[in-house]
Amino acid sequence: MKQMDIVLKDVWKSYDDRKEILKGINMTIQSNDMVLIKGRSGSGKTTLLNLIGCIDTPSRGQIFLNGYNTGELSDKELASIRLHKIGIVFQAHNLINDLTVFENVLLPMKIAKWHDGDWKVRELLKTFDLYEYSSKYPNELSGGERQRVAVARALANNPTVLLADEPTASLDMDNCDIVMEAFKKANKEFGATVIIASHDPAVESYIGHKYYLKRGVLGGDD
Ligand SMILES: Nc1ncnc2c1ncn2[C@@H]1O[C@H](COP(=O)(O)OP(=O)(O)OP(=O)(O)O)[C@@H](O)[C@H]1O
Ligand SMILES: [Mg+2]
Repeated sequence: MKQMDIVLKDVWKSYDDRKEILKGINMTIQSNDMVLIKGRSGSGKTTLLNLIGCIDTPSRGQIFLNGYNTGELSDKELASIRLHKIGIVFQAHNLINDLTVFENVLLPMKIAKWHDGDWKVRELLKTFDLYEYSSKYPNELSGGERQRVAVARALANNPTVLLADEPTASLDMDNCDIVMEAFKKANKEFGATVIIASHDPAVESYIGHKYYLKRGVLGGDD
């Protein structure tokens, strides 16, 4: 199992000092858990994922990854965590249209200067039933297939934590099922802690551990 305990202590975030987007978030996510952060549009889900993924920093409060206070890490250390420990499936899947499926999945390994990644890419593409699409380009794929490529790419550097932002947006039920099964695989077979932000009710049945974000406050009623 990959070890990555995530602890947020009284985390606040505002973008412009006027409006608090996250208001005193306390949460503990254990290694190898699979967690859903649900909540309406604008409730702060993407903001929260960006903080956990070390893409952005809180205005106040602390985030601990395996006991290390991320606020005390250097830019270099944070960049290394982002590259080696965290995989992200963005809200808009962000595949590069000029690269094939194979090249898209290989890209994070190239950035990490891992030169012998071809076998790993093949393994990932097979795992997610994408092998036959290896030399296709993203715009030749369906939404569900593209989303699976995004999951495969996020797993390329064997991350400890996989963050996914609205991964089922614009997918029908069948593709939602395929993509959610891909996340379960990432969790069970690849041992990644999986944190999914979504307002899609269809996602809820796949995940036992749920947090509800309401106007920047965690918990509370619907
Ligand atoms: N970079 C930014 N600068 C200023 N305000 C921002 C920025 N990013 C988000 N916000 C504001 O923060 C609030 C929360 O946004 P966020 O994207 O975290 O919500 P969300 O829950 O992910 O919504 P959705 O379900 O629509 O994706 C919104 O009011 C948004 O306008
Ligand atoms: Mg969002």
